[in-house]
Amino acid sequence: MKLDRRLNEILSHITGQSFADVGCDHGKLAVKAIECGCVNKVIATDISVPSLDKTIRLADSLDLSQNIICRVGDGLSVVKNGEVDTVVIAGLGGDEIAKILQNAKAEGKEFHRFVLSPNTHAERVRAEAIVQGLGFVRDYLILSDRKFYSIIVLEKEAKKKIPNQKQFEFGMEYAECEDFRVWANNELSRLATLIKNTKNNEQLKIRLQQIKDAYEDNKCE
Ligand SMILES: C[S@@+](CC[C@H](N)C(=O)[O-])C[C@H]1O[C@@H](n2cnc3c(N)ncnc32)[C@H](O)[C@@H]1O
Repeated sequence: MKLDRRLNEILSHITGQSFADVGCDHGKLAVKAIECGCVNKVIATDISVPSLDKTIRLADSLDLSQNIICRVGDGLSVVKNGEVDTVVIAGLGGDEIAKILQNAKAEGKEFHRFVLSPNTHAERVRAEAIVQGLGFVRDYLILSDRKFYSIIVLEKEAKKKIPNQKQFEFGMEYAECEDFRVWANNELSRLATLIKNTKNNEQLKIRLQQIKDAYEDNKCE
């Protein structure tokens, strides 16, 4: 199974013998993780029956249904407390991921490690991590297939670093992250054009300045 850069990066952060892939959809991450011997059990979940069916069919076709256990349900409601070593939630919005973490906490569930990759509003995931007392192991941006994704790895036991305002907005590692530099460069050009073509552009100017400040902190040349 060939994975794109984003899924490979996520795979590289999975530790232990098992993980839950919440919102598994196509099921490629689960299959690759078993094939490479990274883990021996995956609980693949999805809120949508047609989405979960893709994973079920893929696992069946590769004779991996013993190792990939498929469950339909919302977030971590179908995973027991501590049932897996790592929880992966990728390809959902930051609000949805934060809600899944909140609900799991309300159900009294705890997991050793989370690998989260929100496709929007990563700052809402950071906010929830702080509320839950989870420590940041990694938090950076990657470019994969011409899109940017946040990768946030959290552990209860990790040292608690409270992000400053820019880290909260752009990721804990924004100042050392090469792909953040690429993202900021693109975003600065896009905003500069937008500002030229927009009359009431005060908010855009503020946003441009925030990104410029963060870009100037970045040490990757
Ligand atoms: C864009 S796909 C991401 C697939 C894969 N995780 C990835 O990153 O490539 C999002 C999947 O999450 C599922 N999903 C959305 N909200 C969910 C929730 N609350 N609980 C479980 N699955 C959810 C959707 O049905 C969909 O299959």
